[in-house]
Amino acid sequence: MLAASSAVGLGNVWRFPYIVGRNGGAAFVLVYLAFLVLIGFPLLVVELGIGRGAQRSLAAALPALAPPRTAAFWRRLGTLLSSGCFVLMIYYTDVAGWLLKYTGDFARGHLAANPESAFAALLADRPTCAAALAVVVVLATAVCLAGVVKGIERVTKALMLSLLVILAILAARALTLPGAAEGLAFYLKPDWGAFLAHPESAIADAMGQAFFTLSLGIGSMTICGSYVGDERSLVSETAWIIVIDTIVALLSGLVIFPTCATYSVPYAEGPGLIFVALPKVFAQMPGGCFWGFLFFLFLSFAALTTVIAVFECLIAGLMDSLGMNRVRASFLVGLGVAVLSLPCVLWEGVLGWEDFAVSQVWLPLGALAQGFFAVNSTYGWGWKAFRRSVSTGVGWKLPDAMRYHLAIVVPLLILAVFVAGLIRSFTS
Ligand code: ALA
Repeated sequence: MLAASSAVGLGNVWRFPYIVGRNGGAAFVLVYLAFLVLIGFPLLVVELGIGRGAQRSLAAALPALAPPRTAAFWRRLGTLLSSGCFVLMIYYTDVAGWLLKYTGDFARGHLAANPESAFAALLADRPTCAAALAVVVVLATAVCLAGVVKGIERVTKALMLSLLVILAILAARALTLPGAAEGLAFYLKPDWGAFLAHPESAIADAMGQAFFTLSLGIGSMTICGSYVGDERSLVSETAWIIVIDTIVALLSGLVIFPTCATYSVPYAEGPGLIFVALPKVFAQMPGGCFWGFLFFLFLSFAALTTVIAVFECLIAGLMDSLGMNRVRASFLVGLGVAVLSLPCVLWEGVLGWEDFAVSQVWLPLGALAQGFFAVNSTYGWGWKAFRRSVSTGVGWKLPDAMRYHLAIVVPLLILAVFVAGLIRSFTS
């Protein structure tokens, strides 16, 4: 459940719909699902497997499983990869803060007359953004301070269940709107023409989204793996995590596209879809304040569960690597994230660069390194030990043929799409 709540986040509800909108709808969704199966699935097994195999967080797990002569290298690399969690948090908490602010506004019945300028005014109101961010950091730190079972598991379970219920209510509402059929046609009927208009960029987006939504490559899933017992196969656990994550993403699309179609909001609105376009929709909808409140509450829960899970990864990293106790590590992580999030609050453009560094560089390269670690016995853990470990317990076993897939197909795909993504980012 912790892994699923780490996966389910802004990626599913904010990023997924606008990326689908930008890339032509259903055809893109199919390619994204293919990437989840081809790359996301095996790499998530790897990341969880490293955690369970070593019973530690990434920076300590890699050297524990590697041959002694390469242990020092993997410790350094593991530390570098885990720092991606920190970079993710220093902008993610900022966006989570905006969501809390929107939730509060809708709860108070405050509907902005002009959502564009309201959003711009929020970004320019640095003290409010900093305060909202501080609330997010304090909440996540408090939950982590309470410990894994009493704090994190209990709170994330409650948030995830409420999130699913709210999502189902919102989807039922959206599907009964007059424009539902038009929105659904865009979302569910593949138009390959739109996809093929910019295939390279659509493919880079699809892979980037698969990495982002599963938080692969930076060790946030490794820590979840370290909490799974040997009684269940990690291959089956991975399947469950991906199914839950995909259900939330697909349902979010079912909420957003019929709603946009009904109120003539362009699907390709981009990142502002949630903060600008949807408030416009809620302003026109009967009972808009209530639906807006429910929607932003849902989004805040999704963001908070991810923040809590990634905080736990950072805290466990400090406990494993520096021998700190939970209290000290939690305070240090909370304080560090709060202080280093400030550049993102103060200067426009920082968020985009931090997101680029995490989604386009840290996640794919981190996942590539971990995939290599799992299959290579000379420098890493090695296929046989890895396969035995992840297949232990009730459930699916990892097929032997997956070795070639992980050793050849996955790295080639990641490298090709990584290079295409970099070229696109620097030329667009
Ligand atoms: N996996 C996290 C999300 O989707 C980062 O928001």
